[in-house]
Amino acid sequence: MLVFAASDKGGTGRSVTSANIAFRRALSGDDVAYLDFDFGSPTSGTVFDIPGSLRGVEHGGMHSYLQGRVSEPDRVDVWAETERDALRFRPPGAGQLVLLPGDRGGGEFAVNREMVRRCTDLFLRLEEEFDVILIDLSAGRSYAVELVLAATSKPELSGITVRWLVFHRWTRQHIAAAAGLVFGDRGILDAGLALGHQEEGLRDSIRFVRAAVPDPDSPELAHVRPAQAAWLRKCDQDLKDFAAELKLGRSKTLGVVPLEPVLQWREQLITDDDVLASRVANIETVRALTALADELTRDKSWEAL
Ligand SMILES: Nc1ncnc2c1ncn2[C@@H]1O[C@H](COP(=O)(O)OP(=O)(O)OP(=O)(O)O)[C@@H](O)[C@H]1O
Ligand SMILES: [Mg+2]
Repeated sequence: MLVFAASDKGGTGRSVTSANIAFRRALSGDDVAYLDFDFGSPTSGTVFDIPGSLRGVEHGGMHSYLQGRVSEPDRVDVWAETERDALRFRPPGAGQLVLLPGDRGGGEFAVNREMVRRCTDLFLRLEEEFDVILIDLSAGRSYAVELVLAATSKPELSGITVRWLVFHRWTRQHIAAAAGLVFGDRGILDAGLALGHQEEGLRDSIRFVRAAVPDPDSPELAHVRPAQAAWLRKCDQDLKDFAAELKLGRSKTLGVVPLEPVLQWREQLITDDDVLASRVANIETVRALTALADELTRDKSWEAL
């Protein structure tokens, strides 16, 4: 399965949430590959705590592969190479967790036919080896989005399940922007149609994910004044109405990740130890991330709406 992680704005929680989904799927036994297609800012090594590729690798990353400088992109075995002790050994029953980083200093680049072919070949090869391939795309109507829409329109990939996760924060600007990225001019649906995708099939393969959502009823907000609590609840309801109006309502939302203090301070994988042993992270966050990882492959959640 190919899973594209997209967002219109930057800083939505796209990389951190999708890396945690990859981690949770690997823990449950899937072989998972995580591809850094954020070409302008290839920093996903940071979330996995990979010392040599915090900002991408020196040679042979995703930029080098797609631009034809190497025949295979570099791979990092996260269990073996992470600096975080809690992740250092692959737990019993866990699958592979492999990061394909970008190139250090690599930037955005315009897409050509040769790149689409290389991207298609890579997806085909990885699909044989991995259960889930998660691709973190540059924000906005980016070349990365164009590239994967072009690759997945090719007949060679027609037998592969493709799912899109569009991340947004819980604010008016983020909701409007996410709707624009999917349904707006030159958005994913528009661009996909122009590249030969079927509109319905593509629309049904897209779900939204709300990240870093404050809960007005959480213990952290228990101390606020009654007027503030009432205002927060009203805001939350207005955002729900706004999202539904723009076709990002509950039925189109795959999951909601609560605002997590650990992630406000540090982009990282949230382990069970972070909740049970050191108790720095909230159990609700792990529950939400695990639920998202489950929903990803639950066909019922992806039926036509
Ligand atoms: N659930 C959460 N609670 C609190 N903070 C979060 C949560 N999810 C992500 N964050 C934080 O928000 C910031 C942005 O997240 P992240 O880097 O994943 O977003 P992004 O959409 O990939 O951004 P970019 O476009 O810059 O790549 C990070 O500091 C991250 O740790
Ligand atoms: Mg990111």
